[in-house]
Amino acid sequence: MMKSYQIVYPSPDTSMKKIVTKILLLILATCTCLQFILFVIHFFSGWSHESAPTPALKSGTFYVAELQKNDQQLENAKQEQITAPRYLSDLSTLQFRHKTSLITKRICAQHYELLILVASAPPNLQRRNNIRLTWAFRRALKPRWTTVFLVAQVQNQPLSNFLLREDEVYGDLVRADYFDHYWNQTRKIQMGFEWAIRYCRFSFLLKTDDDVFVNTPAVLSFLNNPTIPNVMLYAGKQYKNPWILRSGKWKVSLEEFAGIHYPDFCAGFGYILSRDVVASFVEAFSMVPFFRLDDVYVGMLAKKTGIKIVHADGFELNSKRPELQCTPSTNFKTLIRHGVEGNCLIEMYHRAVLSRRDSDRSNELSHT
Ligand SMILES: *[C@@H]1O[C@H](CO)[C@@H](O)[C@H](O)[C@H]1NC(C)=O
Repeated sequence: MMKSYQIVYPSPDTSMKKIVTKILLLILATCTCLQFILFVIHFFSGWSHESAPTPALKSGTFYVAELQKNDQQLENAKQEQITAPRYLSDLSTLQFRHKTSLITKRICAQHYELLILVASAPPNLQRRNNIRLTWAFRRALKPRWTTVFLVAQVQNQPLSNFLLREDEVYGDLVRADYFDHYWNQTRKIQMGFEWAIRYCRFSFLLKTDDDVFVNTPAVLSFLNNPTIPNVMLYAGKQYKNPWILRSGKWKVSLEEFAGIHYPDFCAGFGYILSRDVVASFVEAFSMVPFFRLDDVYVGMLAKKTGIKIVHADGFELNSKRPELQCTPSTNFKTLIRHGVEGNCLIEMYHRAVLSRRDSDRSNELSHT
């Protein structure tokens, strides 16, 4: 049997309704589209503002002026805030954007030949004080070096308050906003390098630890030696083709870092970088993924930026023989000695000072 089909025409009433609905939908779609475009523009302008490297950092030059401008902006905003409370929420965005969680914005008082960064664990006040009283101590009116301690945050409230006081008294802590922990040392050197580049004028940076003796004048003579370059310098106790340890204290899993060797690096207790190298390392933070062994991480930064290591003999691990532990090497070539603290540090310091006096005196004698 044939089925008959009948064409049903819509009544004029329903077709009108459909047209109106279509127009409304079109208007709605256009609005959504516009809103989306505005959002995209807004998003990307904010994003580019945040991630664009400052020109000064890019060229590796010093920019306290820029910093002061920034502080001025902050100051102005604070002033305005008194009359217009709505500025309150904008205050944080006006602050200088750091690459790391660096907090300290203290500016170095002058140019230094040598800026010494000491990685220190928050409770080690005694070690910091011994360092302040020995090799960090400066007699000169216009000193050639300065020393700061890199210390992050602690959960313990009394210690946290104590660190604030310590910084008020000595003014030599560089702080960042993360919890201090042995496996967060890489964050420590990152924030330290950023502070150095943004807030301090210097020729060379020495990174060291709070259980290390530094023969400061000897390091300065070492750096003034014409065979030591002023730029592209990464000097210390070099580990060549270092094995990736799969067991023990410094064990690293294959997931963390695959391979057999790390790139060459300098032992973390003491290495020296020229200013341009520090600047290029700070630039490279975003390109070299976080790795928790900080001295290895610096080796990775060096590889990334094409910096070659200068191995130097004066960067010493402490001797296993007790009679040699608290005294500079017999030829007094000790620049930096690891594993020296407490009375040993004080002994070592006095011996180094005395040996210097002796050599000065014999120099005088040989001149007469
Ligand atoms: C290291 O710092 C990060 C970032 O603040 C934090 O999440 C982490 O808990 C810290 N690690 C340790 C072991 O405290």
